[in-house]
Amino acid sequence: MQKVLAIETSCDETSVSIVSSSNDIYIINSNVIASQIEDHSKWGGVVPELAARKHLELLPFVLEKAVKESKTTIDEIDAIASTVAPGLVGCLRVGSVTARTLCTLYSKPFLGIHHLEGHLSSILFTKNYPKPPFLALLVSGGHTELIKVGYRRNMQRLGRSFDDAAGEAFDKVGRLLGLNYPGGPAIEKIARNGDPFKFNLPKCKVSDKKGGFLKYDFSFSGLKTAVLRLVEKFKLAGDDIPVPDIAASFERVVAEVLVERTIKCAVDNGLENIVVVGGVAANEKLRKMMIGEALKKSIKVHLAPINLCTDNAAMIGAAALFRLKFRSANISSLELGVLGRMSIEKANSLYKEKPPF
Ligand code: KG4
Ligand code: ZN
Repeated sequence: MQKVLAIETSCDETSVSIVSSSNDIYIINSNVIASQIEDHSKWGGVVPELAARKHLELLPFVLEKAVKESKTTIDEIDAIASTVAPGLVGCLRVGSVTARTLCTLYSKPFLGIHHLEGHLSSILFTKNYPKPPFLALLVSGGHTELIKVGYRRNMQRLGRSFDDAAGEAFDKVGRLLGLNYPGGPAIEKIARNGDPFKFNLPKCKVSDKKGGFLKYDFSFSGLKTAVLRLVEKFKLAGDDIPVPDIAASFERVVAEVLVERTIKCAVDNGLENIVVVGGVAANEKLRKMMIGEALKKSIKVHLAPINLCTDNAAMIGAAALFRLKFRSANISSLELGVLGRMSIEKANSLYKEKPPF
């Protein structure tokens, strides 16, 4: 059995988790998450400086609680991990410095984890998670990406959003509709009382310089603008804004676009398993539609557990445990820093003797 202590502070959740694995079964011993949503909601989004300060304030308590709940002693911990990229730099630094200090104090190996690989690894807590190669749809507040996951975490990006991430679109449309931050859960809730076919909103595509459209890429800013125009039309006419119908129509279009392009990408690349992870993967409409449509193509869908879709340290711990299977190749230097933007395709570079940043 191997056990890891993991820290996640890349955005607005301060989280510490103890996870273990044995014979390819992954278990959560504790997963404490202190959300800062209330601190940021009055600003309509995450304020980076405020988030970094909050992490600093909360992390000692979250760490203590996670260790206590897991009933683990430091001797039982095989390695300590933290998210090092991508994310808000000031926030990442709090988690990473804490993890590296603990590693130095207790002589433990350190693993710097790519945040998106963390999301990807939330799938390891499900039964019958797929063996590579498979296709992952990573849909969060900062990213919308289609990743082909190969052996030993060799990853290839096959598609991405050229503007807003899907979660960002949910948040911006939520704000337009006067809903609370974050927009995703708020839109999902109010959409239950709406007609998803009431409004015809655009499914934007990304033009290919060589002509036609890019098949696996996304664009959500046009959809957001279409919602803005719709809201303005009602306001100008002095009519009530039909929030549930707009929310339901928007949610349907986002789900349809994500599902259509993901399945096309899997079929074209001969991948029989699709993994859906990240904050937006908590969306019921997306989950149901993906399963239903994939079934028609005999593709199996693996969804992240709902409680592990949004940011948490358990997924970071799972990523570390997976990498520890090939231990010697996957220990980070204590000199490794943090980076705001980093492609998941470069995640293997985090374990080089000479750190990439
Ligand atoms: O993965 P995550 O916690 O943070 C990032 O790494 O970005 O994702 C947060 C995003 C937010 O944009 C939020 O609105 C969205 O996930 N989200 C949802 C739902 N729950 C969270 N979007 C749609 N439906 C949901 N149920
Ligand atoms: Zn995330």
